[in-house]
Amino acid sequence: MPQKTRSAKAPQCAVIILAAGQGKRMKSDLPKVLQEIAGQPMIFHILDGVRQAIPSATVAIVVGHGKEHVEKQIRSNDSYSDLDLNFIFQPEQKGTGHAARFAMDSPWGEAVLKSRVPVLVLPGDLPLVSPELIAQMTEELGRSSVMRLLTCVLGDPTGYGRVVRRGKAGPVLRIVEEKDATQREKELHEVGTSIYLFQGQFLKTGLSRVTNKNAQAEYYLTDLVSQASRAQKKIEVFQWSESQDLRGVNDPWELSQAGRYLNQRIIQKWARSGVRFIAPELTWVDSKVVFDGIAEVSPNVLLQGRSVIRNGAKIGPHVVLKNVDVGSGAIVKAGTVGEDAVIGTGASVGPYAHLRPGSEVGEECKVGNFVELKKAKLGRKTSVSHLSYLGDAVVGENVNIGCGFITCNYDGKTKNVTLIEDDVFMGSDCQAVAPVKIGKGAYVASGSTITEDVEAGSLAVARSRQVNKPGYAQKYRK
Ligand code: UD1
Ligand code: MG
Repeated sequence: MPQKTRSAKAPQCAVIILAAGQGKRMKSDLPKVLQEIAGQPMIFHILDGVRQAIPSATVAIVVGHGKEHVEKQIRSNDSYSDLDLNFIFQPEQKGTGHAARFAMDSPWGEAVLKSRVPVLVLPGDLPLVSPELIAQMTEELGRSSVMRLLTCVLGDPTGYGRVVRRGKAGPVLRIVEEKDATQREKELHEVGTSIYLFQGQFLKTGLSRVTNKNAQAEYYLTDLVSQASRAQKKIEVFQWSESQDLRGVNDPWELSQAGRYLNQRIIQKWARSGVRFIAPELTWVDSKVVFDGIAEVSPNVLLQGRSVIRNGAKIGPHVVLKNVDVGSGAIVKAGTVGEDAVIGTGASVGPYAHLRPGSEVGEECKVGNFVELKKAKLGRKTSVSHLSYLGDAVVGENVNIGCGFITCNYDGKTKNVTLIEDDVFMGSDCQAVAPVKIGKGAYVASGSTITEDVEAGSLAVARSRQVNKPGYAQKYRK
């Protein structure tokens, strides 16, 4: 097998991500770290941060609950193929210290010890950790320090481990979990975040000494803080002022709060680069969406997946786009829904259009209200303005499709293609029974059901002739 380029570069840092817990408080069968915010699992946000801040790191992900699922999701994401990822199995979840111990006792941990790199520990349920924070946390430890502890001060510290110091602001003595805390300790507002940088040997030895004599009968990683303090080893404390970045996600409410905050961070970033959001608080933009230039986004818009919004586009209101590429200057009007589709430069789509996967709207096309496209490609300047369904269709340039056109693309067994060449004029209320081709420049009379190919330049009329019977109306009424 070819060697990956990263192996040429020794890791400057090792990372343990604790991701084995079931997350009982989430009340969901999905492993906690796979719960999604901003369009991807929480653990992907953490891996994105690691990849940006310390790309040469060697990473151990401790998995347990739903391990196959977690591993498969991560392995199948190409974005992480250049990261040195190692999965460590923790068969029973007996606490954060127990999880970290499995990593350090594994062959991966042995190699890390040998290489003498520091070990960053990240919990899998802190998805808002930024690359900047990771970069600062992994700056070199002082010579005499055994660990760096990341803390923050929270208005409401409920649920977090409290940082106990000597006196009010003296050195850190220990971290006490909420369930073990006295009333006085619960009143402390400085909390441990479960993010640490350890000197490798201290971590390894410390973990072997942790006991489970506490309210939850768990092996707490936080115990390493009191171990260091008792042994009078130096603990560096790093307090992060942006407490929102350190939101833990333990239940559905915290998941929605973290999602809301991340959304705000994403929107703020794009707004500062020139995108105008009329109502940021009513707009949802996934983390992998890209704005390529300035754009305007109206209220109640969801931009999902890997959508790209190009310069000068206008979106919304009430629009949902997933993996849609919106061309420069295109307008996507109210109520439009699109997935895995392309909208060309200067095109106008909607209101109330539905672009299903595989749809391509060409440059300067017009797709109007109540039009559904599925695997349909429209050439430049083609217009489908009202109430139509085009499935498995290839439509040329400058085609005019009248109101109420339908491709009959499915015969009960297979999907068949409709070809409509350049400059065709399709009258209103027509159907094309596929497979069928309508040649360049042809006219199709309103109300026609086209079952046979139409030659270029001809007129197709496929309807019965009108008969007017004078006086018949009066006769009927009688
Ligand atoms: C932990 C800290 C707490 C801190 C808080 C910050 C401990 C004992 N407590 O509490 O001080 O304020 O994080 O968010 O460390 N995990 C495993 N295996 C296990 C147990 C947990 O991999 O056996 C993983 C979980 O999947 C999770 C992470 O470790 O991603 C943290 O575990 P969790 O149970 O959420 O700890 P907290 O109660 O949040
Ligand atoms: Mg937690």
